[in-house]
Amino acid sequence: MQQGASEFLKEDQIDISLPDEDFFSELRKKEYSRVDDNSEIYLDYTGGNIYPASLVKKHQEMLLNGVFGNPHSINPTSKRSSELVDAARKKVLEFFNAKDYVCVFTQNATNALRIVGESYPFNEHTEYILLSDNHNSVNGIREYCKKKGGSVTYVPVQYEDLQINEELLKNLLKEHTQNKKVLFSYPAQSNVTGVKHSLKWVEYARSLGCDVILDAAAFVPTSKLDLSEVQPDFVSVSFYKIFGYPTGLGCLLIHKDSFQKLTKPWFAGGTVTLVSVNSQDHYLTNTHERFEDGTLNYLDIPAIKMGLDYIDSIGIERISQRINSVIRVFAHRLQGLKHSNGTPLLKIFGPEDFNKRGGNMIMSFYDPQGNTFSTELIEEKASRQNISIRTGCFCNPGVDEINNCITTDELATYFTTHKDGNYHDMIASIGKMRGSVRVSVGFITNEADMDTFCNFVNQFKDKTEAEITL
Ligand SMILES: Cc1ncc(COP(=O)(O)O)c(C=O)c1O
Repeated sequence: MQQGASEFLKEDQIDISLPDEDFFSELRKKEYSRVDDNSEIYLDYTGGNIYPASLVKKHQEMLLNGVFGNPHSINPTSKRSSELVDAARKKVLEFFNAKDYVCVFTQNATNALRIVGESYPFNEHTEYILLSDNHNSVNGIREYCKKKGGSVTYVPVQYEDLQINEELLKNLLKEHTQNKKVLFSYPAQSNVTGVKHSLKWVEYARSLGCDVILDAAAFVPTSKLDLSEVQPDFVSVSFYKIFGYPTGLGCLLIHKDSFQKLTKPWFAGGTVTLVSVNSQDHYLTNTHERFEDGTLNYLDIPAIKMGLDYIDSIGIERISQRINSVIRVFAHRLQGLKHSNGTPLLKIFGPEDFNKRGGNMIMSFYDPQGNTFSTELIEEKASRQNISIRTGCFCNPGVDEINNCITTDELATYFTTHKDGNYHDMIASIGKMRGSVRVSVGFITNEADMDTFCNFVNQFKDKTEAEITL
């Protein structure tokens, strides 16, 4: 990571006390005691949230006390499953205040995005415009676009603060909407830097005639998304990121006005009202079922309602405030860690305004001479101390290419001279650093977690990479 990104903490943003400490400390004991029982320092909440014990117990009770059949039939066990799936769907729509939306259950956010990619009517008059700060599951949609003759334009985030360059984005959207149909895609929160990209771009882009995908996978675990206030055409979500259990479930929220914009490229069990083999005709359903291929995960989907009820019992605004405070305090403490010669042990990247951040941040560690420690070494050393952090590019290469100043020419040379490639080979080939260290917090992250991680960082004090022992 280069050292060019801005210093981020303004003095007036520093509040060293954690709000709601009694409540969240009790909650940690009651619902998450296994974290401390196992001496885990969990700082990878953007990777996946931790499930509360009561959610697993409630779901287990449901499974142990009932008999559930495959939905799509009127027999009693099938009806029971259908009712629970319907209740979960209703809860999702209520949770996001999404009365204008259809909720399609998927395996995860990635599969929600894939549905849009494979069904969006891309053609030679389409421009797929996306922020460079996108997860690969959004980046990958560009392949559907290109295969159907469309073009792709990336809007780079700014090197200085990793935020949207507003003028550039406005100009690109205006320019391309003059003679093309634009599909615009961006994350409500970066899974790398934690930057919350303003939701105002949804309405701005729609007012120019764009269709908009809002990737909300990293945003909704830390913030309230009210789909009566902001109305993207398509929204992607993974539920394990919000309440930890079960994995393997997400949803695609489709604005009712945009439902017919998607053209499903095939049909499958559960998606049709009628199919003929003889005449090779079929009718697709006009509901969420159109995009739910085959048998739904009907035993786990009821747990989505339980999970969202759990989040409601705490309150998403309360969660949001808590996470914002934790990350603010944590960043302040980390920023204060110095070598004996006064140089910082690490640098955190991103915007100065902490209201523009969710629960994750990226950083690089430096030796006293300002040389960067390898991220692999840091993750390995942290893992040996039972600290779960994540390093690398986090499936979001765009922001990393900007932060590490990797040029288009360097990338083009690598890709044209290598039949196959990988991250480590590219680092060796280009001779530039890639990746960073990501720390992400949840609402139960506490002072002890921060102490442990700060002590861990201090193990790098006054040392060069060669002097670090694992
Ligand atoms: C912003 C964002 N989008 C999409 C995804 C993909 O989510 P999943 O792997 O659950 O499909 C992630 C996962 O980390 C993410 O953070």
